[in-house]
Amino acid sequence: MDIRPAVPEDAEAVSALRRATFSYLVMSAATARYMIAVQPPAARVLALVAVADGEIVGWGSAGLNTWTSEAGQAGVTIYVHPEHRGQGIGGALAQRLHEHLGGIGAVRARTFATAEGVEFAKKFGYDGTRQMHYAGVDPRELPERPAQAEGIELVTMDQLDPRQAYAADAVASLDEPGDSPTDAVDYDDWLEEIWHAPGLDKALSVAAMAGDEVAAFAAIETDGDRAWSAMTGSIPAYRGRGLAKLAKWEALRRCADAGIVGAFTSNDDENGPMLAVNNWLGYRRVATQTGLLRKF
Ligand SMILES: CC(C)(COP(=O)(O)OP(=O)(O)OC[C@H]1O[C@@H](n2cnc3c(N)ncnc32)[C@H](O)[C@@H]1OP(=O)(O)O)[C@@H](O)C(=O)NCCC(=O)NCCS
Repeated sequence: MDIRPAVPEDAEAVSALRRATFSYLVMSAATARYMIAVQPPAARVLALVAVADGEIVGWGSAGLNTWTSEAGQAGVTIYVHPEHRGQGIGGALAQRLHEHLGGIGAVRARTFATAEGVEFAKKFGYDGTRQMHYAGVDPRELPERPAQAEGIELVTMDQLDPRQAYAADAVASLDEPGDSPTDAVDYDDWLEEIWHAPGLDKALSVAAMAGDEVAAFAAIETDGDRAWSAMTGSIPAYRGRGLAKLAKWEALRRCADAGIVGAFTSNDDENGPMLAVNNWLGYRRVATQTGLLRKF
């Protein structure tokens, strides 16, 4: 077994490994390639692959969260193919990643673990009980369309100026539950990481417009016949009017028309409004992961 830095040519294998490990996560090879090749320099990301018999069997990445005003907040992701567990691959990845984080000024790292991964994370000094729920729906089986809201027009996001989408995303993200506030989103970084990312399908993503302003939106990423909700948000002045339901319903209907048969999402257990929207849309829970933190 060899651990080496990930390169863009690993994208197909990384996407397949992720799918084999988490059936409910959606990341196309193009998205994996972009994730490996394009990272903001300030994040100081280290991305590693574990290779056994010429095959990529493990992924590990760590870097700083550049979208929060809190200094030194880091994220760690590790996963190993189910058939290659118990051989020290995850531990070797964790050691390399923690050494890296120690050298770039990390103060605290966050990771998410499946039930079997929690004990592993605790061995490396992580602790916590934050719950992240994963859920899926067949977009061909939606409830009845909600009534159109007065004065609101639905458009696909390919019709937007990116500044309009950024304004809504940045404001809505402030209220997403998490360990660190998402309160320092630089426009140019957002353009590169979100707007120009190959997975974002702007023709399936929908914005509910109040005049020129995005009042609510549902952003969709795709991989073949599966979709991932990249973000749903409403700006505070327009909350509680059914606009997130309307925008996401329309986006999912478009997904169904485009041949998508499974749409997936993740929600923090504390996100009552988003869980209510998704429950109404018919999402069923498929997994829960635990969010844990480690100090440096
Ligand atoms: C989640 C969010 C998109 C909802 O937007 P919205 O336009 O207010 O949503 P809607 O009006 O369509 O529906 C809101 C639903 O949440 C329910 N709700 C509101 N507050 C709630 C709470 N504290 N607990 C449980 N349900 C709640 C409402 O009753 C409504 O459901 P109902 O129509 O079945 O009664 C918005 O709050 C937001 O932008 N939050 C910050 C960003 C975020 O967390 N996005 C999701 C990331 S996973």
